[in-house]
Amino acid sequence: MTMTEAARVILVANQKGGVGKSTTVATVAEMIATAGKRGRRVLVVDGDPQANVTADDLGVDGDRGQSLAATLQFGTPLVPVRNVRAHLDVIAGGPQLAIAGAAAHLMTENGIDMAANLQSQLAALCAAEGYDVVLIDSGPGDVPLLDTYLSVANYLLIPTRDDRGSLGGVELLARRFWRARKRGASIQLLGVLLFDVNPRAEKRNQEVFAQISEMLEGSGTTPFDVTIRSAPAAAVDMRNLHKTAGELVALAHAERRSRLSKLRDKKSPTRGLWSSDPSGLAADYQELVRQIVARLVRYESEPAAVGERVG
Ligand SMILES: Nc1ncnc2c1ncn2[C@@H]1O[C@H](COP(=O)(O)OP(=O)(O)OP(=O)(O)O)[C@@H](O)[C@H]1O
Ligand SMILES: [Mg+2]
Repeated sequence: MTMTEAARVILVANQKGGVGKSTTVATVAEMIATAGKRGRRVLVVDGDPQANVTADDLGVDGDRGQSLAATLQFGTPLVPVRNVRAHLDVIAGGPQLAIAGAAAHLMTENGIDMAANLQSQLAALCAAEGYDVVLIDSGPGDVPLLDTYLSVANYLLIPTRDDRGSLGGVELLARRFWRARKRGASIQLLGVLLFDVNPRAEKRNQEVFAQISEMLEGSGTTPFDVTIRSAPAAAVDMRNLHKTAGELVALAHAERRSRLSKLRDKKSPTRGLWSSDPSGLAADYQELVRQIVARLVRYESEPAAVGERVG
């Protein structure tokens, strides 16, 4: 059974740091897992030695990347942290992964294939657990790890800010993506996501969209037709409280109610959240999830949608 039949494995990557990879993985994963009546089973693989999505975004005490590093190196089974949210499991990231990354050359020389190890153990875990979607978060720096994830994933989602450095990271990664495909990887480009954007800067945003579209020419994909708005206060709350954008909405709602009742009690209101209304941010992610699902459906019904790059 191929990975595509078992679960959709989406790699979220950009060779530039701080462009919203981890935040997007956590929020999208939580939304897919809790959406609808049934919710889909989701696995987050934290492939980053920094472990931001594990520790900061989801607030999970992991194994410092031990299980994933061992899978990469020895082909041992992946051990998820279960039910970190309803329908959501995590393979923790951490510094053990940096060791695997640093030893990549030695492994290749000695016939150890990190990608094959991860591919087979991920397929086994997906078959056993029935995950519908796997989201892999990646760090900005470690090229051997990134190449491993590019070989294993079915889809690539690239978040970026609109500065030159981040867009340069998109271009670097796009080239790495095409090299992976040349090596025989079946990964397809799902789209580019503009992150931390001022929605009112329409002219600027259009310019950036055009720039990205040009970069993506021949890939069969376009930038997502939704941007993630700039929301620094909500971002601080999310990381401090280990909540995704969707979860923060419920929290803000509860906080408003308790503040009202405290006012009635004539107690001094205490500061809880920095963000007053994270619902716009959550709505952006909601629309992103809708577009991701639509693209997955399209790619799966017409696999030829993403052709080979000409030339
Ligand atoms: N909507 C937002 N607006 C502004 N800043 C945000 C928003 N969402 C998240 N942030 C903040 O942006 C920073 C970068 O986000 P994040 O850690 O998700 O990026 P990353 O690409 O995973 O970084 P790294 O390359 O280090 O892994 C974080 O401090 C995060 O809290
Ligand atoms: Mg990150």
